[in-house]
This record gives sequence, C-alpha cells and structure tokens, in this order.
Amino acid sequence: MITFEAKTRTFFLDGKGVTYAFFINHADFAEHLYFGKTIGHDDLSFTRASGSRSTIAKVPGHDDFSEEDGSYVQFPAELSFFGTGDYREPTLHLENQSGDRLTELLYAGYDLLPEKPPIPGMPSMTGGETLVLHLKDKVTGFAADLYYTVYDDADVIARHIVYKNEGAETVTLRRAYSFAMGLPQNDYQVLSLYGAWARERRIDKIPMHHGVISIDSKRTTSSAELNPFMALLSPDATEEFGEVYGVSLVYSSSFVLKAEGTIDGVTHLTGGINDFDFAWPLAAGETLATPEVVLAYSAEGLGGMSRAYHDAYREHLINPRYVKTPRPLLINNWEGTYFNFTNEKLMAIVDAVVGTGIDTFVLDDGWFGKRDDDSSGLGDWIVNEKKLPGGLKTIIDHVHSKGMNFGLWFEPEMINEDSDICRAHPEYVIRVDNRHPCYSRHQWMMDLTNPEVRDYIVTAVNKVLAENQIEYVKWDYNRNVTESFSKALSREEQLGFAHRYALGVYDLCERIVEANPGIFFEGCAGGGARFDPAMIHYFSQIWTSDDSDAEERTHIQYGTSIVYPLSTMSCHVSICPNHQTGRTTPFATRATIAHLGATGYELDTTTFTEEDKEAVKAQVADYHKMEKLVLEGDLYRIDNPMESNFFSEAIVSKDKTEAILVTYRRMASVNNQIKRVRMAGLDPEKRYEVAELGQTVSGAALMQIGLVPNWSGDFAAVEYHFKAID
Ligand code: DGJ
Repeated sequence: MITFEAKTRTFFLDGKGVTYAFFINHADFAEHLYFGKTIGHDDLSFTRASGSRSTIAKVPGHDDFSEEDGSYVQFPAELSFFGTGDYREPTLHLENQSGDRLTELLYAGYDLLPEKPPIPGMPSMTGGETLVLHLKDKVTGFAADLYYTVYDDADVIARHIVYKNEGAETVTLRRAYSFAMGLPQNDYQVLSLYGAWARERRIDKIPMHHGVISIDSKRTTSSAELNPFMALLSPDATEEFGEVYGVSLVYSSSFVLKAEGTIDGVTHLTGGINDFDFAWPLAAGETLATPEVVLAYSAEGLGGMSRAYHDAYREHLINPRYVKTPRPLLINNWEGTYFNFTNEKLMAIVDAVVGTGIDTFVLDDGWFGKRDDDSSGLGDWIVNEKKLPGGLKTIIDHVHSKGMNFGLWFEPEMINEDSDICRAHPEYVIRVDNRHPCYSRHQWMMDLTNPEVRDYIVTAVNKVLAENQIEYVKWDYNRNVTESFSKALSREEQLGFAHRYALGVYDLCERIVEANPGIFFEGCAGGGARFDPAMIHYFSQIWTSDDSDAEERTHIQYGTSIVYPLSTMSCHVSICPNHQTGRTTPFATRATIAHLGATGYELDTTTFTEEDKEAVKAQVADYHKMEKLVLEGDLYRIDNPMESNFFSEAIVSKDKTEAILVTYRRMASVNNQIKRVRMAGLDPEKRYEVAELGQTVSGAALMQIGLVPNWSGDFAAVEYHFKAID
C-alpha cells in the first residue's frame, strides 16, 4: 500500500513486511527516511540528523537556511544531482546546451498507478501499486519520474527512473542511474559476487569505508567477473540473523553499483547503467528509461534477503509460463561429443537413456554452417547436412520416436569471420574500420545496435524453429564486446553503444523467445557469464557454469543462490574425471548436487553400464520427488563450502509440511570431530517423518540439535527427506 501523508509530505510504501519512507523536505528535495521492517506512519522528522554541521554550500535560493536546515550534500537522497553543493556520487550528471552541468531536481507532484507500466524496451518486474514521483528543474525544464512499486508477497521495492527532457534544448546525459537511497550507518559489510569463467559467483565481503565502493562491468554484459548485485550487511548480520539490504539490477550490460560511506556516518547508494564510456543525447521532448533496480530488506540475515529475491523473482520476473512447471530433464551431448558427432552417435546417446526418465535431448554446438570446431560457421543458422545427412529431421524424428523432446543450441549474437553471413555482410560485425577486431574464441560479435542485423538474426533463428519440431532452445553467448562502435549509429549515439546493445539483446529475446511461447528457452554465456535478473526474465533457467565438477559446483551454486532461485540454475551430471578440474567424485554425489537446481545430464551415455542406467533411473525418480521443492520452496543455506569442509542446504515448502536437506563433506578424515547439521526453516511445533532415520522427530529437535550425517569417503553427499505428520 502506498500512502501520502500531506501534512508531513511523507510517502509511505508498505510492502509484505517492509516500509519504505521518504519525504519532500523544506527545500522541496526528495529526502530518504527509512527502509526496513514495517513501521507505522508517524511524522519521522525527529529521525533526521541535527546539531552543528561543517560549512556547506547553502541550498540555492535559501540563503536563510541555518546549519540545522542542512544542504543537498546532507540530505539522504532518492536522486542526487551535481553542481549545487552535493559532492556525493550523483544519480544524474548532465550537460546543458551552454556547457554547464547543473541540475536541481525538486518536487513537482506525484501519481499513484494501480499497475506498474512496463519499462519500454527492457524487462522488469511485473507489479501492482506504483508511485511515480515527479521531480523537475525549474530553470531548464529537465525532469525525472521516479517509479516505486511495492509487493505484498515479497520484501522488495522495485525502482527505476525515466529522465525527460521537457526543456527546449538538447542536453547530454553523462550519467543516468536508476536510483539513490540512504542507509543509516556506514559500518556495513559489503557483499558482492565475483568470478570468472568456470568459477562464477564467489562471495566477496569487505567493510564499508569512507569513500566509494564500486561494483561494475565495462564488458557490455553483466559478466562473470562481477554480478549486478550488492548487499550491505549490518555488522552483526549472519546467514540467518541481522539486517541486510540487497541491491539487484535488472540489466545485462555494463553497469555500476556504488556504496559511498560519507563523513556523516551514513551510506549513500546509487547506480545503474555504467557511465564509463557512456553519454546519451536527449533532444527536447525525448525520454530515457533506466533499468530497474530491486531493493530488498531482510531482518533474517543474508538467507532472508535471498528468500526475498527468490520470492520476488519467481512471482514477478521469471517467465510465468515456465517458472513453476516441471523442467525438461535433459541429456545434452556437448561434453559427450563436443563438435565430433554423427547422426548415429547422437541416436546412440538418446537410445542409451530410454527408460531412465530423461525426457529431452539437446543437440549442442556444431549442427550448422561449416562448424567442425569453434573457428567457423557462427551466424550461418542452416543445418550442416554433411555432418547431419537428412538435416535435423533425422535426429529430431528419432528423439520424438522415443517419446522425448528435442532441444537445439544457438549463439544468435555471434559471427565467425569464416561464415557465409560474414562474407556477405561484413558490416554486421562490431568493429572499427582499419583496425583488426579482437578475436575471442575465434569469433566476432554481431552489431545488435543495428536493426537490420537484428532482423537477419530473428529471421534466421525463427526459420529453423518454424521448420523443425523443436521444444527447447539453449541460447549461448561466448565472448564480450570489444571495439564498441557501430556504423549504424551517429557520432553522438556512439557513447550509448553498451546500452543500445542491451536493448538489442532484449529486442531479440522479445522476437525469438517471446514469439515462440511453446518452446522452453535456456540461457547460457560460456557457462554463467550473463546470469542476471534481466536474463532470467526470458530464460527461466541458465546454464550456471561450464564447470560441472560437483565440488566446484557447491561453491558456484551456493554463491548464485544469494540472489537467484534454485530453479534458475541449470545443473548437469557429467563424467569423471571431470573435464574442467580432472577430479573424480562419486556418481551419486554429482547427482545430489545437480538436484539443487534444474537438473540434467551431459556426458556420453553410450558408455553407460546397466548399473549406471539403473542409477540414472533412480536419480531421475528422486529428482521428480523433490522437483516441486526446488521450483517453489524456501532455501536455507546451512554450511558454506567456501568457509568450511561442508556444504548443506535445506529446501522447505512454503507451508512447512515438506523439506529436504542436502549435506556434503569435501574431505574425509579419521577420528574426526562430530559434525551436526542443524536443520533450518521447519516448523518447530510440527513433527516430521525423516525417511532416512526411520523415525519421527519434532521440527524443534531437528533445528536445535541437528542431524549427524554418516558420510563415507571424500566428496560424499547425504540427503534427508522430511514430511510433517500432523
Ligand atoms: C559454452 C557453453 O557454456 C557450453 O555448455 C557449450 O554450449 C559450448 N559453449 C558450445 O560451444
């Protein structure tokens, strides 16, 4: 519910268990007051800082303001601007026609909308009640609409800004972030998710300091290196206790999120589209919409914040067609064959899993153009009949005859120099004339800022999808942009390249993913290099990492779950020794860890023994029993593999009648200390049948005392299933 208290000019945004409050202060500035647990609607002016302050620039036109009245630099901001006394990181930085860079965006009214309108050209949360706060610069006419949406089923607030040039002259936006917010302290721990190829979403935690902590990407993708996410943990916060604030950006291109510890002992947060290598001219009458940021609050530690994001994204962001439906349980041929396959080999891989419950076969890279390795063919989305005589039909018919679905790999944004499309249209490549474009995995990138290029891709991909009976698509993306430049853009538009590329990606997704509602789409980016909230809007699940080693996966999946629901993580059982690490882990462990997501298999199944096949059959049956929990349940992280020898996670149904606990020990030792795993998230009052114990135990005992798993050997996993009996 959104309320405006006219007397105090305070906006109260009440969500599920949170209140967000700001007011229009005596300078007409939108001043942040509060984000946290639900509170009443009192006059909150008593919470503002008082006492003598240092010499500061007066608010222009308010020479009568006392030190107590403060100045722009001291007001916790909903939007901060530059040039009139505020030296914090501005949310907006623009250049007026004269060359001056001043803005003063002050209160100009508000609207309440029953339904949040979509953000043009970009994915965002669906949502109900929305406040639009209008701010305007009286001198230039430049304006900003700040959107705030509350949710009664998740502890988050969604925000974005639409910048509007209502003046008479063109301005240039040198920075156009999505939000600003104040937090009351500056002694937080700042948590971010960093990584690399095959080592995605590790957890970094550093203390706030005086100055700016910045998390960003300059890669024209959200990146494996830093995810578009930041959490601020109060000093005493743990996994299950204490206050945590989350900042998650629904965006897939170069971004920045900043936390600035100010001399006043508070924190100023802002961020959005990365303003490095950015400028956006806005002519009179034009607008620029910014990506959405989803702010979460938890009083139940980091775990509570994760559950808030999982609820919000499952209910309001992920494609509703597939978010809660059982996922395809697939066999993918990539690690089984790489580029080296024939129809016969693919059919044998399929035949080997008939009867196991695996229901989908996905043909990965190598089926199109001249593609026997990664040096050629990308962009030629025409089946390679030399490799697959009879076209795709032979393998598709075979898969369907076994009662299974068929999936196909594409990498729509890419092009090889050695391809027919590159020979015919060299101008489709992102490059600067007279310079040799960087290769990465021997490939170049398509210029998605050019509508003609997008039309080519849409036509080519949709043709394959229309001419063949395909139920599943894996959309890959294996390199980052270099030479950020487009011949299709004017000189003034070039510095908008990274954002225009993102808009191009979303346009492709609308015209391929949304235009084929009967097909299930999985995202991928050389593993998990574009695992972000915008992508999970289109791709209900994303290949989490090219590293499928079970031990490594405990780290990657643990880190990914900080923001993203388990159901968004594609997790495959692969062969040992593992192709990425060379490590051997038990088959059962690989399956158990892969079950903590959208599970599947990726190996040469023709080497399966009867025993392997029976094991797969049992694993698939087990997964189906827990799939509803994976898709809809609440996640409780218990043991962090990055900090201990163990990894434990529980998933509990919303009504707390069912749960599963997965526990894993990395290295075995003799005479080792007893390890108890305290279950989490159960109802202490309920009694649970624990299948593996053959016993009924109270939720209280399971959570207070814990279980003592009997792991055997290295890399061992033990599962427990709980069912409430009363
Ligand atoms: C990278 C992906 O992450 C892999 O799963 C596989 O699809 C290859 N690309 C194919 O080139």
